[in-house]
Amino acid sequence: MKIQRFSRIGFIMAAAGSAVGLGNIWKFPYMTGVYGGGAFVLVYLVTIAFIGFSVMVAEMLIGALGRSDTVSSFEKLAPPGKKWWKYAGFMGFNGIIIMTFYSVVIGWIFYYLVSIFGGLPDSTQTAKSIFNDLVANKVNLQIFFHTLSVAIVAYIVHKGIKSGIEKINLILMPSLMLILFGLLAYAFSLDGFKEALAFMFEPKWEKLNSEAFIRAVGHSFFTLSLGMGAIMTYAASLPKDTSITKTAFIVTFMDTLIALVAGLVIFSFLFQFNAQPSQGPGLVFISLPTILSNFGTLGVFFALLFFLALAFAGITSAISLVEPVVQYLIDRFGMTRTKAVIVISLVYWLVGIGAILSYSKAWGDVFSIGGKPLFDVLEYATDSILLPLGGFLIAIFVGYVLPKSEVRAHLNNPNEFKAILYKIWLFSIRYIAPIALIFMMLNLMGIIKL
Ligand code: PHE
Repeated sequence: MKIQRFSRIGFIMAAAGSAVGLGNIWKFPYMTGVYGGGAFVLVYLVTIAFIGFSVMVAEMLIGALGRSDTVSSFEKLAPPGKKWWKYAGFMGFNGIIIMTFYSVVIGWIFYYLVSIFGGLPDSTQTAKSIFNDLVANKVNLQIFFHTLSVAIVAYIVHKGIKSGIEKINLILMPSLMLILFGLLAYAFSLDGFKEALAFMFEPKWEKLNSEAFIRAVGHSFFTLSLGMGAIMTYAASLPKDTSITKTAFIVTFMDTLIALVAGLVIFSFLFQFNAQPSQGPGLVFISLPTILSNFGTLGVFFALLFFLALAFAGITSAISLVEPVVQYLIDRFGMTRTKAVIVISLVYWLVGIGAILSYSKAWGDVFSIGGKPLFDVLEYATDSILLPLGGFLIAIFVGYVLPKSEVRAHLNNPNEFKAILYKIWLFSIRYIAPIALIFMMLNLMGIIKL
């Protein structure tokens, strides 16, 4: 199969576009709020630095060496007699599971983008009822916006690596950064900014329970798009002679920076008007619009910019969630790109409707598993189990299965890691990452208690 190649900047933007997503702007701030701020942020940063970054390098390496879809890459690189490693490549399907609810949230964002023009809610009560009403009662409207999101993503992916994925990322990523840094500049002028800084960076250890710890580790995988073959699939189109380690560093850095900026912006606005940070998933859909209404027309403008940034972040990540399976269907089944996109989109569109119904009043009971809404089950299964499992397999494969000399040849040279950094990375990929991930999964399954 002929694989198109990204340009260097195109690859960086596409990988950063994948990493920077709803996880950064919607999820990270609300998790920071729920888990009490500073200590959570610190655990998250340490995990990103020691585990996330190392696994990203490993995942990029598999992609760059395999130059194929995830299943074929594992198969190609595994030594004779260990070809069953190809099954690890099915981590590419995690993206489709994530897309079932990710696309629904992008749909909510579209809905907000439209409804902001009708004015912002002036009390938390009103804001809550708008959001709750959408989720519990407006099933058709949600399906409409979910369908719109599926269609946009499908259109971009069907255009392919160069004229679809690279092109859209080169436009949306700089726009997203411009908006967020613009909002940050404004937030900086607010009194709430200092409080936001303190909330995010002064660790209050007493608030850090084992759940917060686990969620921080899990989230560091989700936010970097690791453990499901998105980065691997993009890296299959890595331009020649591009430094894997430098690119992984830039992407990790951008992703972390944007999460911190989003948090600072949201909390500055919140503290400016003495609102509570611990709002959960409704933080950007309920608290933020209410707070922004205090700014009058300027607030509407801010809300518009904010939700636009959120939509951009969501779309660029969504395409990377779909691309691995599309690539797989093209490579292994000889499907045309268009056909593969249609098949895959239909599948997650349908399950996504199930996720929507699982939050609705009328159908909630039917679409739940073990008393939990399908939406939550899908999110939990990916974020907490499948991505860490994918990360574990990547770490083991690169740390133990690939020939050591080959890994060293690619990652320990003047263009990549210097000797000492290579040693630290290797230690992390062979020991720290797998052990931490195993602990995490056992803990989540209730087999051990931290
Ligand atoms: N990293 C994306 C985010 O932060 C989500 C994602 C996960 C995208 C896995 C691709 C793969 O929202």
